[in-house]
Amino acid sequence: MVKPRVYVTRIIPQAGLEMVREFCEAEVWEGEMPPPRQVLMEKVKGVDGLLSLLTDPIDAEVMDAAGPQLKVISNYAVGYDNIDVAAATARGIIVTNTPGVLTDTTADFAFTLLMAAARRVVEGMDYVRAGKWLTWGPTLLLGRDVHHATLGLIGMGRIGSGMARRAQGFEMRVLYYDPYCPPEKGEALGAQSVELNTLLAESDFVSVHVPLTPETHHMLGVEQFKMMKSSAILINTARGPIVDPDALYAALKNGEIAYAALDVTEPEPLPADHKLLTLPNLIVCPHIASASIATRTKMATMAAENLIAGLKGEMPPNPVNPEVLKGE
Ligand code: DGY
Repeated sequence: MVKPRVYVTRIIPQAGLEMVREFCEAEVWEGEMPPPRQVLMEKVKGVDGLLSLLTDPIDAEVMDAAGPQLKVISNYAVGYDNIDVAAATARGIIVTNTPGVLTDTTADFAFTLLMAAARRVVEGMDYVRAGKWLTWGPTLLLGRDVHHATLGLIGMGRIGSGMARRAQGFEMRVLYYDPYCPPEKGEALGAQSVELNTLLAESDFVSVHVPLTPETHHMLGVEQFKMMKSSAILINTARGPIVDPDALYAALKNGEIAYAALDVTEPEPLPADHKLLTLPNLIVCPHIASASIATRTKMATMAAENLIAGLKGEMPPNPVNPEVLKGE
């Protein structure tokens, strides 16, 4: 039997790659950086399936370069803002993602950032490394309490809910803004639904958990930072462009908010000479919230299952545009 041809845009954990290789004739991009656009356009020609990463913009041009036989685009991520889903749907291509498996790992990391910012962990480490630790000091590196503080969640989907559950252990008051979340769900998590402006005005910690869409692009900008407490800490583990980076820089510099901890940035990667990195009240990590060994392995097997099902013409376990196969 002739195996379907697929292109995999980066080396993913072995368990997933083995599944792909067993069922498909797979070409895998082995570079550390994503395949350059021209390479991608060339490599996709004639493939039946594509296993992509969030670093690969997959638009109509790429789909057309692949050709009409392209059946499935399996994204190795829960977010799929890198894919033009409407263009895929119009071409009868099923798009899939990896929801669920990374929820707790990502919520763990968002909470890690929250605590690290509140208690100035990174500044503490820098202080020790710089040889400045000469004695115990009553006012040395004073931070802010997490326990009994107010946490504002923008987005109460899987990861936002995971944050609400974690916050219970710290006896936090939890507010959330999510027009798509039924109030009963929030109540069951001990969280109170509020308008965005109320959340911004009342929260000690604001954590972002919405997908990047045209509606959420720069959802936090100049106006929103002005509404926040001057003691507030912003955490973003969702997507960089949800926060306007110039507005964030000004807010941190001028003391409109106290601190930010970001796992995602705009641009991404953030260049080492970016003005945000001159600020002492900022933590930035290189988009690693889902980066645990177990989770990245589960994402790989899930992406492989989605890819293989799509190639077989079956409904994959995690379709983003199921209407393609339902014939709607
Ligand atoms: C995702 O899956 O969308 C994360 O950003 C990376 O795991």
